[in-house]
Amino acid sequence: MSVNTLLGLLSSALLCTAQVITSDPLIKDPGVYGPPLELVHLYYDEFPTGIAVSSTGRMFSNYPGGLDKNDTNNGSNGKYTIAELVSNTTETPYPSAEINNPPGGAINYTTYPPSAANYQNYFIGSQSIVIDPADRAWVLDTGRVQSPNGTLVPASYGGPKLVGINLNNNTIFKTIVFPTTVAYSDSYLNDVRFDLRANLSGTSGQGVAYITDSSSEGRNGLIVADLGTGNSWRHLDGSPTVHPVQQWLAYLWGMPLYGTNVGRPFSYLAFGSDGIALSADGETLYWKAVSSRYLYSIPTVRLRDNSATSELMAQGAINNHGETGITDGMETDTNGFIYHGNMEQNGISFFNPANGSDTIFVRDPRINWVDTMSTTTNGYLYFTVNQLTFGPATYPGTDRRKRPFALFRVPLANNATRPLLI
Ligand SMILES: *[C@@H]1O[C@H](CO)[C@@H](O)[C@H](O)[C@H]1NC(C)=O
Ligand SMILES: *[C@@H]1O[C@H](CO)[C@@H](O)[C@H](O)[C@H]1NC(C)=O
Ligand SMILES: *[C@@H]1O[C@H](CO)[C@@H](O)[C@H](O)[C@H]1NC(C)=O
Ligand SMILES: *[C@@H]1O[C@H](CO)[C@@H](O)[C@H](O)[C@H]1NC(C)=O
Ligand SMILES: *[C@@H]1O[C@H](CO)[C@@H](O)[C@H](O)[C@H]1NC(C)=O
Ligand SMILES: *[C@@H]1O[C@H](CO)[C@@H](O)[C@H](O)[C@H]1NC(C)=O
Ligand SMILES: *[C@@H]1O[C@H](CO)[C@@H](O)[C@H](O)[C@H]1NC(C)=O
Ligand SMILES: *[C@@H]1O[C@H](CO)[C@@H](O)[C@H](O)[C@H]1NC(C)=O
Ligand SMILES: *[C@@H]1O[C@H](CO)[C@@H](O)[C@H](O)[C@H]1NC(C)=O
Repeated sequence: MSVNTLLGLLSSALLCTAQVITSDPLIKDPGVYGPPLELVHLYYDEFPTGIAVSSTGRMFSNYPGGLDKNDTNNGSNGKYTIAELVSNTTETPYPSAEINNPPGGAINYTTYPPSAANYQNYFIGSQSIVIDPADRAWVLDTGRVQSPNGTLVPASYGGPKLVGINLNNNTIFKTIVFPTTVAYSDSYLNDVRFDLRANLSGTSGQGVAYITDSSSEGRNGLIVADLGTGNSWRHLDGSPTVHPVQQWLAYLWGMPLYGTNVGRPFSYLAFGSDGIALSADGETLYWKAVSSRYLYSIPTVRLRDNSATSELMAQGAINNHGETGITDGMETDTNGFIYHGNMEQNGISFFNPANGSDTIFVRDPRINWVDTMSTTTNGYLYFTVNQLTFGPATYPGTDRRKRPFALFRVPLANNATRPLLI
């Protein structure tokens, strides 16, 4: 018998006894990582984005008519844009039903085309509620909502504003209305962070707010408001660091995120600067555009400066920390970590300024769109998971969201807490 014949016989014998194979020995994506998620609240009513948690554990959310036409108050449908979470599954308009119900609704149909109502004393469409280091709540009213066909109507002076609420007696103590040179009619004021230290350079001593303009219509930037004088100004208009990346595409749960436009073809989503976080010492501001994977920062002194050459100085002081995934909300803890959603990983990551790198913090299959975050004085990171990208604003344009939406929390790394800049 030749060697070749012997080999042939051997290989047929092997084929006959071939083993059934299974995928059991293969490694696979575990899908979960980090501390287990604790479920805090289920939203069955309106579509939420933000979460704010006070030092006593009171919780507040916002419901933006600018992202969901079903959140738009029409004068008689009882929709609210700010609410307190009063049980595990229910919410009540905050600080009152009245302020959430602008007379005649949030849209002014006497203009052509329709525009957002101009009330300074009512909420129009809020994109954030945030607790400041003095435990006061601030509502960021973007002053814009969607009309019944899903068109985002332009803002009117009086709509875009920052409203401070005393949590002890639930009364408004300050309203800062943004001029039309700071909040444009096509701006979308998105998120806000506070530094209340009295010795901040270039300010009145009563603290400042830093705000992102995430407009998908093009004029993105960062806004600074002096909480004492009520003066506000913009920086970084025109910088690519606040703009969406061109032809940007993300995938969530395997689905491509193309954008829909009322009466026009599908296109790319183009959300600009949105997530924002102050470093634990307040000296650096971090931000990301939603339609981008880059993380940027700037020394806050460059933003507070509004002198003649301050814009040149600001644009020259931006740091690029590289790509860190797809993010909406961001937050900070006393480790100095900058937490941010990492939606394509069904998770949350943090950027550590001490080593310049980004690290996964939690992953869970229940995580889809991580919207806004809140770190707390008792050591938790709260975050909403709201299926934003399963709504009608993304391809194929049908509403694939399923109630309820969720609020989770996880303990901060290394037993950290929320840094208080006061
Ligand atoms: C509209 O909002 C109500 C709650 O306010 C909810 O029950 C309903 O499912 C929503 N419809 C859509 C299409 O989101
Ligand atoms: C407001 O919305 C409610 C509920 O969808 C509807 O019944 C009502 O006709 C609307 N009113 C106006 C003025 O559009
Ligand atoms: C729901 O509410 C109850 C009573 O307020 C509380 O004890 C419980 O921990 C809450 N959370 C969940 C997930 O049930
Ligand atoms: C609606 O627009 C008209 C025309 O600009 C203006 O006079 C009126 O004050 C507006 N009303 C509201 C509630 O925005
Ligand atoms: C609410 O409380 C603050 C102090 O906490 C006080 O300054 C303010 O006057 C109170 N407002 C009302 C309407 O009682
Ligand atoms: C500013 O005040 C804070 C306390 O609010 C303090 O920690 C910091 O050192 C002060 N900075 C300067 C430059 O004085
Ligand atoms: C949608 O509604 C807006 C008013 O908000 C109107 O100007 C526009 O013509 C409508 N578009 C379509 C495609 O129906
Ligand atoms: C950076 O620091 C974080 C927090 O200590 C750590 O988890 C991560 O592994 C570090 N990254 C690198 C690349 O060393
Ligand atoms: C966090 O605190 C707990 C007790 O409260 C302690 O057992 C644990 O070692 C601490 N972890 C870290 C990383 O400091």
